Amino acid sequence: MNRTLPVGLGKRTYDVVVGHGLLDAAGAMIAPFQSRGRTAVVSDETVWALHGPRLTAALAAAGITTLPVIVAPGEQSKSFEGLAEVSDRLLALELDRGDLVTAFGGGVVGDLAGFAAAIYKRGIDFVQIPTTLLAQVDSSVGGKTAIDTARGKNLVGAFHQPRLVLADLDVLETLPIREMRAGYAEVIKYGLLGDRGFFEWLEINGAGVIARDPVALSHAVARSIEMKAEIVVEDEREQGRRALLNLGHTFAHALEAETGYGEELRHGEAVGAGMALALRFSAAQGLMTGQDAERACRAITAVGLPTRLDEVPGHPFNAARLVSHMAQDKKAEAGRLTFILARALGDAFVARDVSASSVHSFLLSEGATP
Ligand code: NAD
Ligand code: GLY
Repeated sequence: MNRTLPVGLGKRTYDVVVGHGLLDAAGAMIAPFQSRGRTAVVSDETVWALHGPRLTAALAAAGITTLPVIVAPGEQSKSFEGLAEVSDRLLALELDRGDLVTAFGGGVVGDLAGFAAAIYKRGIDFVQIPTTLLAQVDSSVGGKTAIDTARGKNLVGAFHQPRLVLADLDVLETLPIREMRAGYAEVIKYGLLGDRGFFEWLEINGAGVIARDPVALSHAVARSIEMKAEIVVEDEREQGRRALLNLGHTFAHALEAETGYGEELRHGEAVGAGMALALRFSAAQGLMTGQDAERACRAITAVGLPTRLDEVPGHPFNAARLVSHMAQDKKAEAGRLTFILARALGDAFVARDVSASSVHSFLLSEGATP
């Protein structure tokens, strides 16, 4: 059964539809958001080869012409060069503000196409058709769009909400198992940050989610989107509570910076390890029990995600270098860092005054080198 989950943002309210067969129904669902019988579909070569013909046929069935804009797969497309390429293609296609961009792919395509749509002729509508688990449960919802620069990830971007998100669970059938696991890190994140019941459900059903059991997958994706929508509605511009969605991300970004944001360590894998570190750090600070932290780590490791530094490619990591990456975070000030920590399973909070030295000592205790 398909579910429609609204993201209530006043005039910019939109629906996230989760379910099966949505790709084949995409033409009729997208039709109300365009008026000129065409849409530029930004995708990557892999997704386009696997699912492009079906989407093109579905759009054609509703009288919509597909104008494909295909980029190379991988994080390197989320760059100034990638943005220039996509913008130039949209200009060559003579799109104007009455037209629609469709982002069809994982988080890379969604962030890139969304940012291109945000700035193209000062803003044009776009819809998201996310094709990875990570994109369905996280990046396609909430309007964050960005590209990376040589100085770091997601540093240039805009908030630009989509008009519609179609999360078709069927397209996940072709997703490599490693990408399923990486996306699952963001699913378990929702349980850990704010819903203990969902976390406990994932302890039992996590393997089913990864195995794409339709019932388990559908519940996991819908519950994740519901939680993300609720947080985005409350704090669209990340002035407060939205920061909870970064649970594990400060540690994760430092590990990714050290490993070079490549194939070696997927973002979701870094988030798995990052969440485990954040929860063990919370326990080390006396904020939560060691039993709860270890229980969370067992649930993360159960699906094959790393939870310890020595399971992360690039080990051994240097504690001072990891902390220096964390200190580059926009919110870090004079030796004080911002982290998302937890008091219990399902009860995370924003800790704005964490000392860099306490993180350094903790990393040494986790096996980082001095
Ligand atoms: P991705 O877009 O690179 O996709 C991963 C790989 O899977 C790619 O090689 C892609 O070609 C392939 N793929 C995609 N769908 C497929 C399918 N159905 N079948 C087979 N292969 C498929 O990576 P991702 O993990 O989806 O996204 C990561 C990006 O998302 C990062 O750049 C991260 O910064 C961003 N992100 C953004 C937000 C946000 O709120 N905007 C949140 C989280 C992550
Ligand atoms: N993925 C973090 C956010 O959307 O805020």
